[in-house]
Amino acid sequence: MEPRFIPQMEPWFDEAEAKAVFDYMKSGGWVMEFQKTEELERMIADFTGSANCMMTVNGTVSLTIALLALGLKNGDEVLVPNLTMIASPNAAALVGIVPVLVDIEEDTLCMDLHQAQEALTPKTKALMYVPFNGRSGDMEKVVQFCKKHRLSLIEDAAQALGSYYKGKHLGTFGAFGSFSFSVPKVITTGQGGALVSDDALSLQKARKLKDFGRSRGGIDIHDEWGWNFKFTDIQAVIGIEQIKKLPWRLKRKKEIFKRYKDGLADLKDIQFIPTDLENTSPWFVDIFVREPDTLLKFLKKESVESRRIYPAVHLQNIYRKSYAKKAFPISEHYASLGLWLPSSSKLKDEEIDYVISVIREYYNAQAKSKIKSKK
Ligand SMILES: Cc1ncc(COP(=O)(O)O)c(C=O)c1O
Repeated sequence: MEPRFIPQMEPWFDEAEAKAVFDYMKSGGWVMEFQKTEELERMIADFTGSANCMMTVNGTVSLTIALLALGLKNGDEVLVPNLTMIASPNAAALVGIVPVLVDIEEDTLCMDLHQAQEALTPKTKALMYVPFNGRSGDMEKVVQFCKKHRLSLIEDAAQALGSYYKGKHLGTFGAFGSFSFSVPKVITTGQGGALVSDDALSLQKARKLKDFGRSRGGIDIHDEWGWNFKFTDIQAVIGIEQIKKLPWRLKRKKEIFKRYKDGLADLKDIQFIPTDLENTSPWFVDIFVREPDTLLKFLKKESVESRRIYPAVHLQNIYRKSYAKKAFPISEHYASLGLWLPSSSKLKDEEIDYVISVIREYYNAQAKSKIKSKK
């Protein structure tokens, strides 16, 4: 098959979103956050099994709001895993809360609680748990750990919509769960974030923080600090159409992951992280290989886009100095090997098979050159 260029990720909108936006505009809606946002919030709360949901501008700000709503202040510390998108620690740093990086466990790539224990100080007030690519460790242990050490638990579930631990949706184990609806996510509103919480009071605090510190729109009495982190109904209209497609998208994400895994299973050079597809719907397909940059280049030459997973956070420029003397062997190791393969739910089976064949070709060529060099 002569393939199209296969992107690592692409959004998927169709006539449903276009029609919904058109109908909404014709209806005279004000575009700003109102009833459509409330409808989307209800849908997300129902889908995740949470009592409450609040939309906000993105999945970074949602984390900042969660930390503030829980009462964390300048100088307080929050534990954050060292392998995550930079938004997780930066959401804390934005308001002077100190992200304290913690190494990860090998079989899930999520925070290692033994390492978390080592990182505790009297200033530690919260733990931000990040289910990496929809996988989590033992959430009961995470909850127990937080209780024992009197930490607020926030789940940065940006990559975990549609993923569960023992049948309970990730993001619903702590005080707040945070989701992102940026373009590469399973469903998107362009930009967008959501907080879920079973505690109505915490969610009310979060709502005040995102709406100028007032208790409802239309009044100008601001009894608390607050800013403007509101969503828009035009995005909500898109989100409502996207969420209707969510069950199918999640199913497709699992099929894609499985197809890659089965197709590459016999290649010893490729490591997959154990993934229970009953509970986990990986947003991307992540593989771990010895020379990810060389494989990335080879794929690119064959019209396949892939992407390196995040560098370990402590090696990013803005964190490097603070962690010059600390080692994070597991996150460093996996960050140095990780590659995201094409993962769009739009991918056809033939395209996945093509990517698999290119990867196989790469390893065949490597094996041949090894044999030659031995001769
Ligand atoms: C784990 C994690 N946290 C937070 C974010 C930030 O979300 P947003 O881009 O909506 O701000 C992302 C985005 O990819 C993410 O993967």
